[in-house]
Amino acid sequence: MKLTKISNRFDIFISEEKNDRKNKPIYLNGNKVYYRFMGRFYIPDHVYKLSPPFVKELNNLREKYALTVIDKEFNDKVIVDALDNLKHKYKGHIKLLDFGCGYGYAGGLIKSVFPDSALFGIDIRKPLERKLLQCYSDFTIKSIDARLPYAVNFFDIIVSFFVFHFYISDFQIKELSRVIKPNGTLFVNLINSADFEVLNRLNEAGFTISEQTEIVTKNNSGRGYFYCLTNT
Ligand SMILES: C[S@@+](CC[C@H](N)C(=O)[O-])C[C@H]1O[C@@H](n2cnc3c(N)ncnc32)[C@H](O)[C@@H]1O
Repeated sequence: MKLTKISNRFDIFISEEKNDRKNKPIYLNGNKVYYRFMGRFYIPDHVYKLSPPFVKELNNLREKYALTVIDKEFNDKVIVDALDNLKHKYKGHIKLLDFGCGYGYAGGLIKSVFPDSALFGIDIRKPLERKLLQCYSDFTIKSIDARLPYAVNFFDIIVSFFVFHFYISDFQIKELSRVIKPNGTLFVNLINSADFEVLNRLNEAGFTISEQTEIVTKNNSGRGYFYCLTNT
């Protein structure tokens, strides 16, 4: 397997082979283990253990190599299924936060399902591509220990697509529970069972799992679960 280092600051490698089924789950470089991430990236630690600067760099590279690392069928299925689920529960004017919104890919889809919504986006990082951020009435960058710039009980829904496998601080979880309305819905998706410990921390902060659904694409390329949690 041929790997190329693609970051000047961190040990992040990409494989030449685009078909992730052919790529090995780990790569041994001397006596150091690298883990496969998104099919083609190799990184020196589990994704939920990476530091915020590493996470930012990795997500910049995800954007840079989007066309060959993102499994679009799986990506879109997670977002479309979530919105399909939420549109049966919410109508009219709602306030919605896209937590870890990245460059705003999900934002346009959210707006098409909830055209009357007030849509807010937040991330720890300024994305490389910024055109799609226009769909948010407000886009904010905040670090993992910063207070969220919203009032108590502000949001009906918080969605977070492809974010909760990264490290989410306890402070952020408390903040999410502060800004969501009682009985509001938090939607997250998770991929590997190793990432699922965050569900315990969400539970401790007052979020109860109301729904767990397995996500499987037609071509079986991507798997994972989505969770609807209610703020109780
Ligand atoms: C894989 S991207 C997904 C972006 C967007 N949700 C989407 O579906 O296109 C993950 C995003 O989460 C952000 N992120 C990672 N850890 C975060 C954290 N602890 N708090 C907020 N955002 C975070 C990253 O900067 C990145 O933009």
